Amino acid sequence: MHMRIGILEGDYIGPEIMAEAVKVLKAVARKCNFDIELVELEASGKAWEKYGKHLPEQTLELAATCQALLKGPFGGPTEEINHPKWAGIERGAILPLRKHFNLYANLRESKAFKSLIHLSPLKQEVIEGVNVLIVRELTSGIYFGEQITREVDGEREWADVEAYRESEIRRIVITAFKCAQQRNKKLTLVAKSNILKSSLLWREVFNEIAKEYPDVSTDYQHVDNAAMQLVLNPKQFDVIVTNNMFGDILSDEAAVLPGSIGLLPSASLGESQFGMYEPIHGSAPNIAGQNMANPLSMILCIPLMLYYTFNLPDAAALVDDAVDAVLTAGYRTKDVFSKGDDPAKVLGTVQFGDMVVAQIEKG
Ligand code: IPM
Ligand code: MG
Repeated sequence: MHMRIGILEGDYIGPEIMAEAVKVLKAVARKCNFDIELVELEASGKAWEKYGKHLPEQTLELAATCQALLKGPFGGPTEEINHPKWAGIERGAILPLRKHFNLYANLRESKAFKSLIHLSPLKQEVIEGVNVLIVRELTSGIYFGEQITREVDGEREWADVEAYRESEIRRIVITAFKCAQQRNKKLTLVAKSNILKSSLLWREVFNEIAKEYPDVSTDYQHVDNAAMQLVLNPKQFDVIVTNNMFGDILSDEAAVLPGSIGLLPSASLGESQFGMYEPIHGSAPNIAGQNMANPLSMILCIPLMLYYTFNLPDAAALVDDAVDAVLTAGYRTKDVFSKGDDPAKVLGTVQFGDMVVAQIEKG
């Protein structure tokens, strides 16, 4: 099998964690006998320096020739937020990438790693066994809605519009039902239907589709309650489906349950097998260039890509198992090191990647 994969390495820790993910991908390719072709795609900070744009047209054209994209975090330091190199990168590059490829379904799974369970902000008995998948709508809603700036009674009034078409709700809800069928067959819709009109449409469409999936049990929570339930009793969830903004917020909350946002990858998918795979965290300028970043969020994009784009569940499992084995053996990057861990097993970004590669070669 031949795979053509686009690489958007991103900013600050982006290239460092991407290098480890690529190393892992090459190791699994050797082991499972597929060949990979990597296509460097220019975007974010470096593209701005060269072309004055965060996402040049030719990048999109080249990306369209790939079967999957691996994307590192885009963006700069908070203090430089108004510098043109970084300003507007979200609306100039991140959102358009999702929209251009119609990647409307963003899958973010938070699961407790047994060996890191003590890092969770929750009590051990609450976090143990947690595995929740948030299916976030990614190409519509308030992040893509009309923006209004006007003057009312002599003062500024700015507004963002939350609008959903039923077809946009239907396709993401169907994705979520399909995910639930592959997992523990429970799907929770999260919205705010006691207040928002758009949420009422989500409920109507959800209920219509639920009839086609009688094997999946369903429930509904308002978003404020869901935010509370995620820390009170996260085990009650299997799959959550929700709109763009609520999914953005709840997925950060869910990401930290296992102990660190640096552990979680995500998959952005559309109608075809094409997918974009990226960590859910930012570019961490404060630790860049020091061989310190945790490469796991990026490395764990590899099994997601092998599973969703290339239909290779065994190859995906090889990476997941290797990561589990390395963590269980006590190896860690500094960010997830804690009292009681063996200081001799604290590794840099590169050395942690090497351990995962060695484990894949053994496996
Ligand atoms: C995410 C990020 C992005 C989002 C930002 C950087 C635009 O927070 O992927 O969750 O809001 O979607
Ligand atoms: Mg976010």
